[in-house]
Amino acid sequence: MITRSTIDRVFESARVEEVIGEFVQLKKAGSNFKGLSPFTDEKTPSFMVSPVKQIWKDFSTGKGGNAISFLMEHEHYTYPEAIKWLANKYNIEIDETEQTNEEKAQMNERESMFLVSNFAKDYFHNLMLNTNQGKAIGLSYFKERGFREETIKKFDLGYCLDEWDNFTKAALEKGYDLKYLESTGLTIVKENKQFDRFKGRVMFPIHSMSGRILGFGGRILTNDKKAAKYLNSPESDIYHKSKILYGIYQAKKEIAKQDNCFLVEGYTDVISFHQSGIENVVASSGTALTAEQIRLVNRLTKNITVLFDGDAAGIRASIRGIDLILEQGMNVKVVQFPDGEDPDSFAKSHSDSELAKYLEDSAQDFINFKVSLLIKEAKNDPVKKAGLIRDIVSSISKIPDSIQREVYIQECARIMEISEQVLFNEMAQLLSKSSSSNTKKNFEKRQNLEVVKKQNIQLKEINQLSILEREIIKILLLYGNEEIDFVEEIINVDEESGKEITTYKKYTNKVSSEIYLHLQDDEIEFTNPIFQEIYNDVIHQFNLTDKLEIEKLVNHENKNIAQTVTSILMDEEKHQLSDWEKKNIFVTSALEVLQKAVNDSIFNLRRVLIAKKINELLVEVKEGKKQIDLEEVKNYTDLKKRLFSKLNRVI
Ligand code: CTP
Ligand code: MN
Repeated sequence: MITRSTIDRVFESARVEEVIGEFVQLKKAGSNFKGLSPFTDEKTPSFMVSPVKQIWKDFSTGKGGNAISFLMEHEHYTYPEAIKWLANKYNIEIDETEQTNEEKAQMNERESMFLVSNFAKDYFHNLMLNTNQGKAIGLSYFKERGFREETIKKFDLGYCLDEWDNFTKAALEKGYDLKYLESTGLTIVKENKQFDRFKGRVMFPIHSMSGRILGFGGRILTNDKKAAKYLNSPESDIYHKSKILYGIYQAKKEIAKQDNCFLVEGYTDVISFHQSGIENVVASSGTALTAEQIRLVNRLTKNITVLFDGDAAGIRASIRGIDLILEQGMNVKVVQFPDGEDPDSFAKSHSDSELAKYLEDSAQDFINFKVSLLIKEAKNDPVKKAGLIRDIVSSISKIPDSIQREVYIQECARIMEISEQVLFNEMAQLLSKSSSSNTKKNFEKRQNLEVVKKQNIQLKEINQLSILEREIIKILLLYGNEEIDFVEEIINVDEESGKEITTYKKYTNKVSSEIYLHLQDDEIEFTNPIFQEIYNDVIHQFNLTDKLEIEKLVNHENKNIAQTVTSILMDEEKHQLSDWEKKNIFVTSALEVLQKAVNDSIFNLRRVLIAKKINELLVEVKEGKKQIDLEEVKNYTDLKKRLFSKLNRVI
């Protein structure tokens, strides 16, 4: 683990504008920098960096954060990878916490395996490009398959000579330890003899998400039916077939940008697609998809399009794996290729635009695809149809989002010409069996459409509250430290006339404590848990030091907090993207109307809370759960009126 002090030093040194400047061309815009979003293909800048606040925001995708989160979003680094990248940029030495000897040994072992794998990749690649035999056999094989030189370089393709130990000898000569040649499977050791595992094969190095070499696939050059077409690295400390997707390193940026990932079966499918201009593609390498592989994609996009070769048997087998994708809350589409074609052959026999159009036109929603596929087989067979219903509903029940499940149920009922209720009942049974009690609870809540409608109303209320809560958080973040004048309204009842006399008293207070006092008075809690956390954090800071340090929130280890705060802060800067100020259009400074803003935000929140309270009362009465208490309703209504009149008054 990287030590806290290293991380702190990285935070102190890293300048967000310098880091982002390495990836995005930035132009000065007021006190900020602006540029084209690196996450979309836009023409007018909506990407903004604030050197003062040390944060960035991409208004076209809503992403934002500090220097670290930029590297995580853009380069798809993990947190430690991002810290290491920054440490390297700013020449900071990385301290790692003491590891046990065992941990150290294991780490060194893995490190050594990476090193030898990297050497092997370079060796096979250079041999193919620079030696006579390499060119005559390996390179000409790839050329024959239509792979261009730039593609060969992009994927580090190579060739292992058809000799017993050419590679092993070279590696040993370079000082690599036989132990690691063996543990990575590059060399097979038998009774003091050593052989190259991949002898006579063209080599496909397999990269991790961040570009390290984990293993290899080697393809035989002949059509020998007896020998395996592909040979892969054996499972090892660094190569876990079930956790790897071929091509993810070369595809990650484009997957994020296109917000979709094509999933194919073979190495050559991936490579051909790149040559045809489609770079958001990865291969499962011919095995059944695993949850870990899907999680890799899930880090980049919520959308997967699975491409099926044109043979029906294969499709039936692959369909099972797709439930796994649904389970992770991803949207799945499928594309089926014509009979006898796989993505590689199709890409080769069609132009780039034909391929792109085919993918777009034939992509089908997975559930619909599955229903249509199976319904053909079961049309007139009631027994089969019952099985089919169970099968489909079981797929749908894997979807975590209850609203999406409901839409699918409706859709399937329509296609299969059966009632929604039958499908709902089947799903209720499945979910009650399933261990995921959460999904079950959600489902039960939604089962009845009436309930759904009621929930929608509640959702609206929550959204409205959330907006008001955000306003309060915004004021706290931006102006919490400011001290301004407030006016207190004091109502006295004149003893003689019985009339209310209102007087006003001016007082000075810090914005943060003013808000705190009001919310405290009314025991208001935020409905949005993130806002509540931010609020607690802010108040905690004020209590400790009597001031707010925004950086603590922007760099918060809770990603949700950091992101929300960044978003709120940057929304204030958004106007600098356009040239309003130059055109002399007046942008009101919030400071001038701060006192009213503070009051309004609190009153507004109260008003909505009260309206909610009144609603709840009325519903309870309507449902017969409660006797109507006119007094209570009247009290709330009076309060509401009073608040309204306050709100409309300009003090
Ligand atoms: N595969 C494997 N071992 C095999 C056969 C296949 O590991 N003996 C994996 C490889 O990752 C291969 C994928 O399954 O890329 C798909 O297999 P297949 O469609 O047979 O190969 P292609 O990728 O189409 O290769 P080629 O076009 O060279 O025939
Ligand atoms: Mn093929």
